[in-house]
Amino acid sequence: MNTIGIGLLGAGTVGGTLIKRLTTDHAAIAAKTGLDLQVRRVAVRDPGKSRNLDIPEGMFTTDAQSVIDDPEVDLLVEVMGGQEPAGPLVLRALEAGKPVVTANKELIAARGYDLIAAAEKSGVALLFEAAVGGGIPIIRPLSETLAGERLTRVMGIVNGTTNFILSQMTEEGTAYEDALAEAQELGFAEPDPTADVGGADAAAKAAILASLGFGTWVGLDRVPHTGITEITATDIRYADDLGYTIKLLAIAEDTDNGVSARVHPVLLPHAHPLSAIRGATNAIFIEGPAIDTLLFAGPGAGGDPTATAVLGDVIDAAREILAGAQVAPRIRFAPSSLADFGSVPTKWYVRLEVADLPGVLAQIASAFGEANVSIKSVWQEETGEEATLLIVTHLAPESEQQNALAAVNELDCVHAVAAAIRVESEEA
Ligand SMILES: NC(=O)c1ccc[n+]([C@@H]2O[C@H](COP(=O)([O-])OP(=O)(O)OC[C@H]3O[C@@H](n4cnc5c(N)ncnc54)[C@H](OP(=O)(O)O)[C@@H]3O)[C@@H](O)[C@H]2O)c1
Repeated sequence: MNTIGIGLLGAGTVGGTLIKRLTTDHAAIAAKTGLDLQVRRVAVRDPGKSRNLDIPEGMFTTDAQSVIDDPEVDLLVEVMGGQEPAGPLVLRALEAGKPVVTANKELIAARGYDLIAAAEKSGVALLFEAAVGGGIPIIRPLSETLAGERLTRVMGIVNGTTNFILSQMTEEGTAYEDALAEAQELGFAEPDPTADVGGADAAAKAAILASLGFGTWVGLDRVPHTGITEITATDIRYADDLGYTIKLLAIAEDTDNGVSARVHPVLLPHAHPLSAIRGATNAIFIEGPAIDTLLFAGPGAGGDPTATAVLGDVIDAAREILAGAQVAPRIRFAPSSLADFGSVPTKWYVRLEVADLPGVLAQIASAFGEANVSIKSVWQEETGEEATLLIVTHLAPESEQQNALAAVNELDCVHAVAAAIRVESEEA
């Protein structure tokens, strides 16, 4: 039997589940892979905490460096989260020639380029399947299976909390605050949900998807992101009437001006496969000329699904240790240009509260026209003295759409730009 010693940084939701799986499924994993995976040492903040894990208490330590230094630890699993102290610890393990498996999207999105370079220099693996989409296999398909495809777009629901909230608002008519409270009660949302509802969590995943999908490193600072806090039941209802579902999407694409990655709510046609993804489920939709479209969907978080992804990486890294393989990074990152967001073609749904007077529509159309944005459709509802106008534009560079919105906002007849949400659909 080929024994591989594993050191863990973290034994919380993911790490604790991984330890359980390594003990309860030990024989099954050994039978299937020929690997005897043994937990050797585990760093935690509080070794006294009751964890209900079937490993000796003496394995726990607060000294994370001692896990890396332990000669019986052949590979490191980093599931502590955050950039500090996880970043320097992962780097030191790689420099010491130990492969690392991590579930830490924040770390990979922020420092992945340097960490991947360090792994390459040492000839060891740095694997992070669980960093995007939890239990959904997406990192390996993007970086290995699809490495020969010239992908055009990778678009995903990569945050379960926000998809749960939007699903509740859409299906039950629940108000945003109530849907968020429900997500917190059910454990889908953190007590501080800012990173989820503000889009930062999805932005880290978008950076990783874009980097792997297009072979160009996209830093986290190059991913503009907007969350769902401004989405109202009113717009969900109007969008539905117009044939769209509102989703928070991470969108990475190869545009004429370079690779672009962004996160924001979008109106998506009801018929799009991502519109059907409900609740906390995650899904990634991939487009390319040869594969046409692929949809990966499943549990984007949770101890068990995420531990399965980590376990897959552990098995992969263990096989490479035993093969004595010099591991190259799965994807090389070419220094190619990133598109400025202003140049990326977008289209918009805009809800305006306007004076119900003759000539108003003409003024609004001309403000859009002067900014080079043409209008695809207009729908009007009278509400007394005022009227609500729903406008969907054609594709135009993001900067021109923004100029149009600013110009419309200046018009005296426009009482409020009540909502402005991008639209993703096939037609221009
Ligand atoms: N949870 C999910 O569903 C999920 C899904 C995909 C990816 N991930 C990623 O997986 C990673 C872990 O998430 P999690 O949910 O398992 O987190 P968690 O439940 O908060 O667990 C974190 C663990 O790390 C330990 N830890 C934290 N800081 C430490 C430090 N400075 N020194 C030593 N130990 C430290 C904690 O020790 P104590 O136990 O003593 O507090 C705890 O065991 C994160 O990067 C997260 O983004 C999680």
